[in-house]
Amino acid sequence: MRLDGKTAIITGIGAGIGEAIAIRFAEEGARLVLNDISEPAARATLRKVIDLGAQAALAIADISQELGARSISDTAIRHFGAIDILVNNAADFTQKAVERAEIADWQKVLGVNVIGTALVSKYAIPHMKAHGGAIVNIASMSGIIAQPDFATYNASKGALLTMTKCMALDLAPYKIRVNSICPGCILTSASYREIERMGLTFEQWRDRAAPLHMLNRLGEPREVANAALFLASDEASFITSTHLMVDGGYTGR
Ligand SMILES: NC(=O)c1ccc[n+]([C@@H]2O[C@H](COP(=O)([O-])OP(=O)(O)OC[C@H]3O[C@@H](n4cnc5c(N)ncnc54)[C@H](O)[C@@H]3O)[C@@H](O)[C@H]2O)c1
Repeated sequence: MRLDGKTAIITGIGAGIGEAIAIRFAEEGARLVLNDISEPAARATLRKVIDLGAQAALAIADISQELGARSISDTAIRHFGAIDILVNNAADFTQKAVERAEIADWQKVLGVNVIGTALVSKYAIPHMKAHGGAIVNIASMSGIIAQPDFATYNASKGALLTMTKCMALDLAPYKIRVNSICPGCILTSASYREIERMGLTFEQWRDRAAPLHMLNRLGEPREVANAALFLASDEASFITSTHLMVDGGYTGR
């Protein structure tokens, strides 16, 4: 098993891509520290990974709050005594054009996606420095392209991509690799919220979104989880400071 004996923190595991990463890492033998802001959602994922035989602990916290972010690493050390892998997956999806966005919108989206990711990393890194490890930031293809009325979210993901590179440089001396993943449209609860926001049926949304990907379909959370597993594992031992597109060719044209 590829993550045997490793302790992995994953944020935002209560749904979608985070849940799929938790399940995929459990299948590969990782000990898991599962974070989400929603306790019921986190408990549902916890049950699934325990059914797969994983050792796991919950860390219910809002990653944008310093005490919450810190409590995630504290939970890992208290339960497992080490942190080897950190997957920063939790995100806010405030999507507004600059003209429409209020200060509170910017504070929310940057507070979770950039500052929250930085805070969770800040408290995990000291525990990774002695033995090395891997950090995987779930960014988005939105971090490198323009999409209508998405400025707040896309700016946050663009910042996350640059922060990934800076973290990779700063942490390379400690053998901590830092990479990001840029998913395309992946079918999750976030997609359903977007469909509602746009006032479309699922079929209308799918028929618009799918052809934008060369593979002419939407992605599955497990397809992102497989990429996270690769970057977190020793198979990616010479890969740092890069972003891996998992977008079915959306940005490849
Ligand atoms: N779904 C897509 O099409 C898509 C595309 C590109 C990138 N992404 C990225 O993938 C990641 C996961 O997205 P998803 O679609 O699975 O989202 P989702 O909304 O389905 O799940 C996100 C989870 O994060 C949790 N969360 C939100 N804010 C939090 C906070 N402040 N602290 C702790 N937990 C919090 C939520 O409770 C939820 O369980 C995000 O980083 C997102 O930006 C998603």
